[in-house]
Amino acid sequence: MSPIITEVTGVSRTMLLTLKARADEQLHPHPIFQDPLAVEWSKLLPWDNGLEAIYSSKPKLIQTSFAVRAYHHDQIASRHIANHANPVVVELGAGLSTRFHRIGDNSYRWLELDLPIVTELRHKLDTQTQQHQFISASVMDFNWMNALPDVAPENILFIAEGLLPYFEKDQVQLLISQMQSRFSGASLVMDILGNYGKVVSKVFGKIGASHKWYAKNEQEVTEMGLHLIDVWSLFQLYPKRWPWQLRLLLKLRTQLSYYRNGYLILETKL
Ligand SMILES: C[S@@+](CC[C@H](N)C(=O)[O-])C[C@H]1O[C@@H](n2cnc3c(N)ncnc32)[C@H](O)[C@@H]1O
Repeated sequence: MSPIITEVTGVSRTMLLTLKARADEQLHPHPIFQDPLAVEWSKLLPWDNGLEAIYSSKPKLIQTSFAVRAYHHDQIASRHIANHANPVVVELGAGLSTRFHRIGDNSYRWLELDLPIVTELRHKLDTQTQQHQFISASVMDFNWMNALPDVAPENILFIAEGLLPYFEKDQVQLLISQMQSRFSGASLVMDILGNYGKVVSKVFGKIGASHKWYAKNEQEVTEMGLHLIDVWSLFQLYPKRWPWQLRLLLKLRTQLSYYRNGYLILETKL
């Protein structure tokens, strides 16, 4: 296949960073997961040089963070699939996620929701099936909820990976309330940035992808009406996978809430 010309802008450009991080993970001597499709898609999409400033600002930190984040979401999704009769996974702001191809075989349905420009791109790379479908919509246009299969909400896992910090807090609150009114009892996994994240995320503003919501800690999310099942500090996950230069630093720093809350992954129930 010849290279695919993309014209994604703003927040959507960031999906190329996470795709590259997963592709580059395959070059590690002990990759945390296998993702041949990320390598294939990366080769087909010309690298956006404007992203280089972010990707190489803290090269090992950025690549490892995105790879560890992806793997941890895989673990949560695999557990969900194993524990439900009709497991449905809905990736909100899916970007070019290749998770379905890594772990989705036993799902009943797997839906990838993203903005039209991104879904168009996915159609060029990926194939829809009855099991694996693409929804072209803004997550804030709540009609997408009508596209979900008719299963008990407990079967549904929503994944909002790398999405919610791009919205204002009141938009996130509205989305959560709408999802709760339709899918009470479903699971929602999300990642949130804290004040330490502000330091790291400055560079995102320069590519038109400013983070808008910084949460103090998981309590801020439970106050929005979600039931907390579990919470992890990204920097404490899979310590062996982090470059040795960072390992001790992260271990010591994340004893302090400022660093621990800098990047949290939350598993919640609506
Ligand atoms: C950092 S990327 C994350 C992609 C993917 N979840 C991952 O972790 O690889 C953020 C994604 O959110 C999507 N996005 C931004 N605003 C959106 C909106 N209003 N509705 C749906 N998706 C949106 C972008 O297009 C982009 O694909």
